[in-house]
Amino acid sequence: MAAIGIMSAMHEELSAVLAQMADGQRVTVAGRDFWVGDWQGHPVVAVLSRIGKVAAATTASILLDRFQVGSVVFTGVAGGLAPDVRVGDVVVARGFVQHDMDASPLCPRYEVPFYGRACFDADPSLSDQLAQASAQVLAAAPLHLGQETMDQFKLLTPCVHQGLLVSGDRFVSTSAESRLLSQAFPLAMAVEMEGAAVAQVCWDYKAAFAAVRTVSDRADDAAHTDFQRFVSGVASRYSLAILTRWLKDLPTGVPGIT
Ligand code: ADE
Repeated sequence: MAAIGIMSAMHEELSAVLAQMADGQRVTVAGRDFWVGDWQGHPVVAVLSRIGKVAAATTASILLDRFQVGSVVFTGVAGGLAPDVRVGDVVVARGFVQHDMDASPLCPRYEVPFYGRACFDADPSLSDQLAQASAQVLAAAPLHLGQETMDQFKLLTPCVHQGLLVSGDRFVSTSAESRLLSQAFPLAMAVEMEGAAVAQVCWDYKAAFAAVRTVSDRADDAAHTDFQRFVSGVASRYSLAILTRWLKDLPTGVPGIT
């Protein structure tokens, strides 16, 4: 049976995943450590995605080509764009667009040349499974985050959203740029730096893809504040709990594909 590829954007997330994997064997390809093992009865290959579209696309290609995974799930953080997407919320992607793709006048802005499309969809079934797992995890709060962390990030009633993620090779950290993105993509929930690239690679390999992102900031002038603390104190715990919940409910022998 094809394994599930798990791409984590952050070291803290990957470490938490590896702590749960039985008999993880390290295989190094292109300077990346891929961990092949078993998690709750499911064959998985876990890896750090690296940051940015090219690095993440390379990692995804190796997962699909060398390790022959049948599906890929990405976990990480994102900057909230839609007004109701707050720090501490979870966004499960429905589709992905590269916000910095512009090959005009060869084709319309944002369209990826040779694909005839700007948007690459997430696998609907995988996406729904992850949204359900996320809702269950958030409903069972507090994930032992500690009162200080809850207060600092005002994590009162976190919500799960499903919708469009936009990706580009830029950490968006000004309100002006965030406004421009929201104007260009009125349906965008959040911005990050890898999802659309991995979605394009999964499209090429006809593999199911989904992504879960915890909102670490509002992609505005305050976006850099306490980013690292949020990643280690909140996002990595959310990711682990969501993936654990999802895999628990996933029948063995079904790698999450529609
Ligand atoms: N990942 C988390 N926050 C982000 C932001 N503001 N811009 C791009 N990627 C992000």
